[in-house]
Amino acid sequence: MPEVDDRQDPKEFHEGVPASAWPFSLKGSGGLDWGMQNRLARIFQPDSGRTVMLAVDHGYFQGPTTGLERIDLSIAPIVDGADALMCTRGALRSSFPSGIRVPVVLRASGGPSVLKELSNERVALDIEDALRLNASAVAVQVFVGGEYETESIANMTRLVDAGVRYGVPVMAVTAVGREMVRDARYLRLACRICAELGAHFVKTYYAADGFETVTASCPVPVVMAGGRKLPELEALSMAAAAIERGAAGVDMGRNIFQSEDPRRMLRAVRAVVHDNAAPGDAWAGAS
Ligand code: R5P
Repeated sequence: MPEVDDRQDPKEFHEGVPASAWPFSLKGSGGLDWGMQNRLARIFQPDSGRTVMLAVDHGYFQGPTTGLERIDLSIAPIVDGADALMCTRGALRSSFPSGIRVPVVLRASGGPSVLKELSNERVALDIEDALRLNASAVAVQVFVGGEYETESIANMTRLVDAGVRYGVPVMAVTAVGREMVRDARYLRLACRICAELGAHFVKTYYAADGFETVTASCPVPVVMAGGRKLPELEALSMAAAAIERGAAGVDMGRNIFQSEDPRRMLRAVRAVVHDNAAPGDAWAGAS
């Protein structure tokens, strides 16, 4: 039993002061429930409203990718330098200590390997396991225009329904099939479909021409996917351009973990994303 509050000092009820209100400024997220907003606030830094996610989920369809042969040795030691970690539940349980402080975005779709039709995915994670693993969001691939377009969108909407039940945001990842062009027109279509059907944020590729129309027409935050490995300054320039054109951050994999110095590259990407640093300054300052 707590002791009775018998202090005689006058209480202060601040009767004339309106109750505090904290608007949630992340794009398109003001109407979400507290738990959902709190998870998003772990991923998107309050100061900049942006995020640097480190994607290491490649093994879910292509096995031991270069740089990820031993996630425990290459990624676990640097992961605290990211704002969020994107990975599979298998990698999380086997290759990261449970004491990491970085919020986790769990890969929640999968099925086909690189040997098969990639768009033929299923939901590959129960929301209960995402909660058990203390995930801050789940990620699902959406193949707009792909052979299994409808199925992949149904995977997403199913996860959105589950996520809404428990306050777990869903990140839709717009996969672009080999036969498709990664131009702004396609990316606008894919991102908007994901957002309209409930994704809380969207990961998509950068398009040099018209990327600002992709971010402007998507009512929720867009994070830029990294793509194939580029020279460090080119990758940083792409990230800077995406931020300048409205991206709320990046979710980069190979351009970080295949870098000549992954820890330094992660620091440089952070400087570009959070401090609007010029790519050259960011790389030089991150050494
Ligand atoms: C998309 O297919 C997956 O999420 C990837 O494994 C990952 O996001 C790719 O990252 P990056 O293209 O930057 O290596």
